[in-house]
Amino acid sequence: MGLEQAMEVYIVQKDSHYWFSARKLRHEVFFRDFGLSEEVMDDAGESSAVHIVATQSGELIACVRLNQSSEARYQLSQMAVALKHQKKGIGKKLLEYLEILAVERGAQEIFLNARLSAIDFYVKQGYQVKGDEFPSAITGMHHIVMFKAMGTFNPNNT
Ligand SMILES: CC(C)(COP(=O)(O)OP(=O)(O)OC[C@H]1O[C@@H](n2cnc3c(N)ncnc32)[C@H](O)[C@@H]1OP(=O)(O)O)[C@@H](O)C(=O)NCCC(=O)NCCS
Repeated sequence: MGLEQAMEVYIVQKDSHYWFSARKLRHEVFFRDFGLSEEVMDDAGESSAVHIVATQSGELIACVRLNQSSEARYQLSQMAVALKHQKKGIGKKLLEYLEILAVERGAQEIFLNARLSAIDFYVKQGYQVKGDEFPSAITGMHHIVMFKAMGTFNPNNT
């Protein structure tokens, strides 16, 4: 069985087993190298976020958060694929799942603060950069806003 066939993507609840695994992965990828503790992730969006994970054979391999920002704008944040699973199409699949979910909930635009090293990944998935780079208030690492117009979802057209 190929890797992609074995992968499962789904929503998990905060404080669930896979949420803790995702929290560990997000900490490793985004904060640990800056000497920051896991508590830095307890931001305003953590409780209200939809937490999406990808697993393979019971192991968490990727995760992302989705938050509603305004009526038709949704924010993606803290998307991470475990290092040994990167560049195998998992990030793309996770993003596709997130986009379908967001559009079903009424998103006409998805935006994110992208690490500069990830810009081309998002460009490949149809995202555009907007504005200038800025340093993260938490890590100081430079980011840039990216967005994708999702159009209007009409359930009668599916
Ligand atoms: C960025 C990240 C989410 C991409 O996930 P991934 O599973 O490795 O990406 P995929 O394998 O699905 O890649 C899809 C396409 O994007 C390309 N791609 C992936 N990461 C890329 C990168 N950093 N720069 C340029 N292209 C990239 C792949 O080569 C692939 O191209 P193809 O369709 O032409 O074959 C992942 O590398 C990651 O977690 N990085 C560390 C954390 C991070 O930077 N997260 C984003 C924060 S904004």
